[in-house]
Amino acid sequence: MSHTEEVQQAIEKHSKANIDEYIQASSFKPDLQDSIRGHIALNWKSWFFYRKLSADCARANVGLHGFSMLWKRAATECFADGMWLEGYLVQRGGRSKPSDIPAPNVQWPDDPVDPVQPVYEALQVEKELLEDVLRLCKAADEAEDYALEDVLETRFLKKETKHVKDLGDLLQQCVRISKQPGHGLYHLDKELRETKGVVPWSQANNPDNTDLLLQAATKDLSNTALFPS
Ligand SMILES: [Fe+2]
Repeated sequence: MSHTEEVQQAIEKHSKANIDEYIQASSFKPDLQDSIRGHIALNWKSWFFYRKLSADCARANVGLHGFSMLWKRAATECFADGMWLEGYLVQRGGRSKPSDIPAPNVQWPDDPVDPVQPVYEALQVEKELLEDVLRLCKAADEAEDYALEDVLETRFLKKETKHVKDLGDLLQQCVRISKQPGHGLYHLDKELRETKGVVPWSQANNPDNTDLLLQAATKDLSNTALFPS
C-alpha cells in the first residue's frame, strides 16, 4: 500500500469514528456518566430552590437582605458546581443531556416572617447534595474510576460536608431566636448582611483551619526561648 493510500485509509477510519470514545477511559462507563448527569441536574434544581428563597427574602414583606445574600451565594455555588461538573463530563468524553428543572416548592413565610421552616428545607437541600456526592463516590469506586473519585473527594465532598454543618448551625440559631420573634431575627440578618451572606461561624466549621494553628505554632521554630532544643 502506498503512503497516499495509508493516509486516505486513516482519514476514512477516523472521520467515521466517535472521537469522544477515543478519549474516554475504559472505566468511564455510560452508567457512570448518567450518575454525573444526575448530580448536575440536582445542582440546577438546588440553584432554582435557592434563587426562590433569595427572591422571597428580598421582598418588602420579608425584608431580610442578609438572608437574601446567603441564598444568592448558595445559588451561585450550585450553579458553579453544575457548570464545573458539566465541563468535567465533556473533558472525559461524555456529553450533556439536560432534563427539566423542577420548580421549587418553597415559600418564605411573611405572616409572620419566620426563618425556621425554609432554613430547615435549605438544610435538606444541602443534605441531598451531600448524599448525592456520596452516591457518586460509591459509583466511581465500583467502576474503579479513580479520576472521578479524586475530583469528587477534593472538590465536592469536604465542601458539602461543611455546608451541611453551616446550615445545621443556622437552623439552631433560627430556632433559638424564633422563640421570641422579631429582635433576634433582625440581628442575625444584620450579621449576614455584614458578611455578605457568609454564615458568621463559617470559619469555626472549617477543620482545615487547624493547619493555620500549626503554621502559627511552628513559625518560630528557631527561637530557642519558645522551642528549646
Ligand atoms: Fe453546598
